[in-house]
Amino acid sequence: TVTHVILSGGTGSRLWPLSRKSCPKQYLEIFDGKSLFELCLERNRFLSGKGVVVGSLGNFELSRKTFAKMGIDPYREIVEALPKNTAPAIAFAAMSSNPEDILLITPSDHLVQDQDSYERAVGNAVKLASIDLLVTFGITPTRPETGYGYIQVEDGIVKRFKEKPSIESARTYLEMGDHFWNSGMFCFKAGLFLRELEFFQPDLFHQVKIAFENSKDGFIQQSDNELIDSLSVDYAVMEHSKKLVMVEGDFKWSDLGSFEALSDYLCETHQVEEDEYGNVYIGKSRHASFLGVSNMIFVETPDAFLILNRSDCQKVKNLFEQFETEN
Ligand code: GDD
Ligand code: MG
Repeated sequence: TVTHVILSGGTGSRLWPLSRKSCPKQYLEIFDGKSLFELCLERNRFLSGKGVVVGSLGNFELSRKTFAKMGIDPYREIVEALPKNTAPAIAFAAMSSNPEDILLITPSDHLVQDQDSYERAVGNAVKLASIDLLVTFGITPTRPETGYGYIQVEDGIVKRFKEKPSIESARTYLEMGDHFWNSGMFCFKAGLFLRELEFFQPDLFHQVKIAFENSKDGFIQQSDNELIDSLSVDYAVMEHSKKLVMVEGDFKWSDLGSFEALSDYLCETHQVEEDEYGNVYIGKSRHASFLGVSNMIFVETPDAFLILNRSDCQKVKNLFEQFETEN
């Protein structure tokens, strides 16, 4: 059987002011009354029904509420005192599993359409994971996005994994046509992941091990958590491992991680309209017109506006840090 690991420690800081500390984007019930966290649980119910949420103190209650709302058995919880990015989060899940358990790691905040093809891709990934490979899911890129990881494939074999490239590299990868976006989902045996992590990041591995051994009922203690280096799994393991393979995800996928991704999704589903200069208004209560400007995204919430240029979408996290961590 496969254990579903759902990562939910992030805040969705690049979607401020929609996403707040008190309600990160994966819990916003804005998809026909459902949240992305809820859709993620629904999408993976075809697995064993067994799973682990690796989340934060702030998100713990929000996750619990979602299971209750859906009327399903809650997953096990691992609660981090501090967010240290995805390498430690995944390592906690792996340490709490048997080495031979196959884990399907998913973010909590993506949108996937086409359940049949999703299930097919996961099925293929599980087969590869069972023969001791680290499986990534590749998505055909449509724009030079700098917030993603890129997987270069030659004759079906992974040649290179490059996390968050520069805009110039991202443009080149798109032109080359042999690069896929890393979807951020992974499938592997718990034991294999930990061996690779220990090999490539021995310090981080030992920091996580101590924190896990001292944890109580899934709660990681702040004093141990503080000592863990912050690193994403992409930089920690995926860029280095020789055991990496890729399954192509031909389902519709969107990481609604930035306003560019969100506005593309909202335009495609006809919830907002882009004008001829690439300007978009994301809000409910008003009409917005743009004159003499191009590629602007205007976001409105009851208590805050954000007006930004499309090319600055990755910088929104600085505003989140400025406005959401002070109060
Ligand atoms: N438990 C926990 N703790 N979860 C975390 C933490 C943490 O410290 N940090 C992030 N997460 C969760 C987020 O909530 C999200 O569901 C997932 O892990 C991925 O984190 P992001 O911060 O959204 O990563 P990213 O978007 O910059 O990059 C990753 O995803 C891209 C696709 O969406 C990478 O894997 C890229 O390579 C990939 O292309
Ligand atoms: Mg993301």
